[in-house]
Amino acid sequence: MKLFKNTVWLFAICCAALLVSCDKGLETEIIYYADSEGNDIYPMISEKLDIPKIPLSYDQNFPSYYGRSFSSFENNIATLGRVIFYDTNLSHDRNISCASCHDQKLGFADAKAFSDGVNGRTTARNSLALGAVFSFREYYGNPANGGIPFFWDNSANTVQEQSKRTFANEDEMNMKMPEVIERIKEEEFYKPLFVAAYGSSEINEDGVLNAISEFVSAMGSYDSKYDRALANHFDNNSFSLNNVPHVDFPEFTVAENKGKKLYLNHCASCHGETNGFPGLIEANNGLDLVYEDTGIDGQSLFKVPTLRNVALTGPFMHDGRFETLEEVVDHYSSNIKAHKNLSSNLMDGNNPMKFNFSKEDKENLVAFLHTFTDQDFLTAEKYSDPFK
Ligand code: HEC
Ligand code: HEC
Repeated sequence: MKLFKNTVWLFAICCAALLVSCDKGLETEIIYYADSEGNDIYPMISEKLDIPKIPLSYDQNFPSYYGRSFSSFENNIATLGRVIFYDTNLSHDRNISCASCHDQKLGFADAKAFSDGVNGRTTARNSLALGAVFSFREYYGNPANGGIPFFWDNSANTVQEQSKRTFANEDEMNMKMPEVIERIKEEEFYKPLFVAAYGSSEINEDGVLNAISEFVSAMGSYDSKYDRALANHFDNNSFSLNNVPHVDFPEFTVAENKGKKLYLNHCASCHGETNGFPGLIEANNGLDLVYEDTGIDGQSLFKVPTLRNVALTGPFMHDGRFETLEEVVDHYSSNIKAHKNLSSNLMDGNNPMKFNFSKEDKENLVAFLHTFTDQDFLTAEKYSDPFK
């Protein structure tokens, strides 16, 4: 019997060893970046780009309480998109990339009221943070299909449309698509990246825009302190999803829990509650009586922005008028203006709401807003600058 057991063990160990060696064999055999003769040209790519030999995974596993678990992405296409996103060569003066105005460590926003574009120009609106719960693919899209559109005035339905307009915008990158394609063709390493992504070395507009979309759509931020506390509660208790955010979280400080209550009572109707989706897609939040920039359809309505990583994405609002979250909270506390399109969510009868938050309320709200900071998202290699 003992002998038999040992033989079985020996057999099992041999099998395992065989498997491991097979696996190793495969790993060295798959060439992700090859020329037309099948030669490995990763060394050429890696002279300029810090991307791994085997593409990073962009697939996402969402926390269970969101009621959906997995979203799959094309790693080679997202990798190509990542390189394009960080390539300053693709702007008119070769100085500006998408990342110039969308900085990963700032939640993919930037620290200016209006961003610097090509040739010393500045943008007309404040840069929007990227990366929503769960990911842009889940969050955004054509409103006809229940999605949330892009830009402060919700005027683009896809990342492709958004990116094409951004390239062409004279204040941003000032490049027509044929010029973008020419610049991409100048650079040797793009050919193998296109082959890896699409199985063809043809470089065209659809391929470029689709790659940017795959990369931007794969930005998902769902691992903040708030998300983790929410996940613990959902996994450990039988609360219904609707009640989960309303209980005090043991992972939170007293201030964060108090701030959470204020947020759920006064802000969540527009900015969203458990699942990261906003309650309203667009609204007027009473910044002015008369708006200089009149936003959606000239109605002085603007996108209700995601508050993911909001502690890092200031200045705030479409024109970057508030430097700090304290100023934002002061606005909601006592400065909401009676604009004719002011949302009823911020009205008290016929008048603008006056929350009159105490000093402590304000501090608690700001403390809570900091729990939306997601360090993993802000530092993940797969979203970072691949240029050496
Ligand atoms: C010069 C600065 C600048 C550059 C370069 C830039 N953006 Fe933006 N981006 C902005 C600004 C400003 C907005 C908000 C504009 C608006 O709403 O009118 C924005 C909005 C967006 C949005 C919409 C987000 C939302 O929540 O609606 C996406 C997505 C985006 N940019 C991606 C990109 C990509 C991809 C590139 C490169 C192709 C890029 N941006 C290049 C400044 C820039
Ligand atoms: C009526 C819906 C509504 C309510 C309620 C509301 N907001 Fe907003 N919020 C908006 C809109 C719309 C904007 C963008 C307005 C603009 O730029 O013109 C915004 C912008 C913001 C921003 C700036 C985000 C950025 O990226 O620039 C912060 C921060 C914010 N709100 C926090 C809060 C807090 C905290 C509360 C509760 C005290 C709250 N909001 C209540 C609709 C709302």
